Amino acid sequence: MTRESGSGFGASLTVHRDFPIGVLDRRVFGAFVEHLGRCVYTGIYEPTHPSADEQGFRGDVKALVKELGVTLVRYPGGNFMSGYDWEDGVGPRPQRPRRLDLAWFSTETNQVGTNEFMGWCEELGLSPMFGVNLGTRGMDDARRYLEYCCHPGGTALSDLRRSHGVEAPHHIPLWCLGNEMDGPWQIGRKTPDEYGRLAQETAKLMRMLQPGIELAACGSSAFDMPTYGVWEDRVLEHCYDEVDFVSLHSYFVKPLLPGADTSTGSFFAQIETNARYIEATVAIADAVAARRRSRKRLMLSFDEWNVWYRARHGHHMRQDGWPEAPRLLEEVYTVEDALLVGGMLCMLMNHADRVKVACLAQLVNVIAPIMTEPGGPAWRQTIFWPFALAARFGRGTVLRPAIASPTYPNAKEGDLPFLVASVVWNDEDGTLAVFALNRHLSEPMDLAVALRGLGGESGLAVIEAVELHDADLDAANTAALPDRFQPRTLRGVSVDGELLRVALKPASWNVIVLQPR
Ligand code: AHR
Repeated sequence: MTRESGSGFGASLTVHRDFPIGVLDRRVFGAFVEHLGRCVYTGIYEPTHPSADEQGFRGDVKALVKELGVTLVRYPGGNFMSGYDWEDGVGPRPQRPRRLDLAWFSTETNQVGTNEFMGWCEELGLSPMFGVNLGTRGMDDARRYLEYCCHPGGTALSDLRRSHGVEAPHHIPLWCLGNEMDGPWQIGRKTPDEYGRLAQETAKLMRMLQPGIELAACGSSAFDMPTYGVWEDRVLEHCYDEVDFVSLHSYFVKPLLPGADTSTGSFFAQIETNARYIEATVAIADAVAARRRSRKRLMLSFDEWNVWYRARHGHHMRQDGWPEAPRLLEEVYTVEDALLVGGMLCMLMNHADRVKVACLAQLVNVIAPIMTEPGGPAWRQTIFWPFALAARFGRGTVLRPAIASPTYPNAKEGDLPFLVASVVWNDEDGTLAVFALNRHLSEPMDLAVALRGLGGESGLAVIEAVELHDADLDAANTAALPDRFQPRTLRGVSVDGELLRVALKPASWNVIVLQPR
């Protein structure tokens, strides 16, 4: 799909330093490592790879994970979590059992488990978000796992960890109470009342052991689940006082059925659908608080999100032969996907007051920004770039954007502004990052950004300006052409005092970083 440029149109964005949305929690730049397909095996871990370290982790992947700027990683699933026995993945590797993974119809070798994963996180400076199995197991297993991981020593389970060579307790500040427990595909699916009570009691027990941990209850596994809303309301009625977060999951799709609306405009409208998902979930959580007359406010953990529709054939993806590390969910991302991911990042940042954790799903090979070949190269998919740029420059306080932009009609979401934008002010060093998506596919946008109260006496100067754009929205990065799509310098940026002017190419996502002169 190739687009030509027309003569352009105008749009404006205004922020003021006294009108913040909230402080951006750096945990919104999280990702997800599940024992699924080749995310772990031949993804992060491949002991025979030329770049592997002593623990068997690929050095080329570690370098890309650092460059991506991920802050937090959710582990070990996903659907995998609901059938996982953590004991299988600890202790001497030769004695670890091979198991059938019923979530993904694969064989799990257990050569990577809790301690290896935590070592990898520590080396890369990543904060772990662990999940407990509330599918085949329950609250007692959650207690045992937490004690194994996080109790200093002197008990059977903590001494078991020490006997596995991990003397100091792991620091795991955030835990998921199961995964997608509303989903018919989930191992051990529950009704909202069953799950709500289980989440409440599991949370109580885990807090008795580690009072400082934060806990996320499962919200619905998608906004379009038939039980959405009722699920959140019932679950939170039980566990509101015991948990800190409710989770959201969302995968952006293009309908593949003949005759369906596959337009880019509708694809990009999922930014607004997900904004409504967040705002509706906040409303439900706050209604539960209101019924309890509670001052406590629940935060949101958007702990699975990404584009995922090509490498998707139902949730079960049954396959023959119980393969080890099969090629599953290996979505090849396009420029169009990268622009949607960029717009979604703006939208997430603009909900900084309530979204405190978010995980791009996933990290390597499985619906991922990083791809690898076994024994071969690792490369960046198109969606790597908006994430890396947002994670690098999205630091500080998100300011409330007032947007004036021409619109386009969308059957589901109404009239949508071509401009999607977010402004983050780093109040420590005074820098400002303006993130802007031009959703118009053929016209450049003349954008005026008023940055009120942020320029001081001498005004602002641009220190970095990059664009993500390609005339071919279907272009992708591949092993053969790994750098086809990458950031380029954004030209034609000017600043006068606190007014930034910039021309954004059609179908482009842009970052402009400024500092006071
Ligand atoms: O990320 C892939 C899968 O999508 C996860 O295992 C599950 O939680 C979701 O349905």
